[in-house]
Amino acid sequence: MRLTVQSQAQSISCQEKRWSRVRRVAFAGVLPAALVTLAIASDARVPYVPTPQGVVDKMLEMAKVGPADYIVDLGSGDGRIVVTAAQKYGARGYGVDLNPDRIRESNDNARRAGVTDKVSFQQRNLFEADLSQASVITMYLLPRVNLELRPKLLSLAPGTRLVSHDFDMGDWKPDAQTTMRDESKFGGSGGESDIYLWIVPAKAAGTWQWQGTVAGKPQSYEMRLEQKHQVITGSAWLAGRTATLRDARIRGAEISFNFTIDVNGAAVRHVYTGKIDGDAIVGTAAISGPRVQAQVEWNATRDARSAAAHPLTHKTALN
Ligand SMILES: C[S@@+](CC[C@H](N)C(=O)[O-])C[C@H]1O[C@@H](n2cnc3c(N)ncnc32)[C@H](O)[C@@H]1O
Repeated sequence: MRLTVQSQAQSISCQEKRWSRVRRVAFAGVLPAALVTLAIASDARVPYVPTPQGVVDKMLEMAKVGPADYIVDLGSGDGRIVVTAAQKYGARGYGVDLNPDRIRESNDNARRAGVTDKVSFQQRNLFEADLSQASVITMYLLPRVNLELRPKLLSLAPGTRLVSHDFDMGDWKPDAQTTMRDESKFGGSGGESDIYLWIVPAKAAGTWQWQGTVAGKPQSYEMRLEQKHQVITGSAWLAGRTATLRDARIRGAEISFNFTIDVNGAAVRHVYTGKIDGDAIVGTAAISGPRVQAQVEWNATRDARSAAAHPLTHKTALN
């Protein structure tokens, strides 16, 4: 435990050093004057450094932004992420930034792009932003700010996509990640950008039960799931036997897993896919064995108390 905490702290301080490196170089006069202004204009908790347009495009592509999306950029700078999402994909959304100059620039940029009917910008602390409408949230902040936001982000609707430029989310591993070089980064000095994508997982931990039929006989199933963010593990019980879940996955509200269990002396494979909605799962089960071959509906319910009491739900506090 001590080791985990220590290595996490090391990785955070390593990433935070990236920003201070930018500032040191800027102060030394190596970067253009404009960037010096940008780098030291730390009027808030996070300095203003714009995401290069190529990286903005990649972030929106990774999040698969479309016309049905509502995007929120936390610390929106000159508004380029939200404006691009509206102009290129027809998405709606808003940005929040503490700096009134950034809000003015954002509104100018939205006007120039002809998207003022789709986007807006508010001068406000990002920690107070209303995220209830968001289907996509973008961030170019700092590791410690990401970690502070993490509990709020994890409690959003399952399936909400989060994209972060350069900084990760500690032990909540990304669902996708890429690195690209952009020569316009840091005011033209060029640099590599890491882009991380997370999909908010549904709360799956707890004890689930359902009824089924195997080779004409009614059966009661029970499954216990443990969860850490989007990683789930667990076991299933059937007719006094138990099996470990294999290939257990959760992506947003979608869950899938399989197991093979002995039923009346024969191995029967069960493959499940479904959608979690609160304390219910609705989906399908494919059951195959020597005397059975069936594709059936799957309706599972969870004892709500088992979800609340579970020690490894993703509501667990930071690391
Ligand atoms: C690194 S810049 C990113 C700008 C933009 N999202 C982009 O990627 O181009 C971070 C921005 O966050 C803003 N910011 C910092 N702390 C903030 C806070 N607590 N609430 C709102 N905005 C904040 C800064 O003013 C700055 O414009």
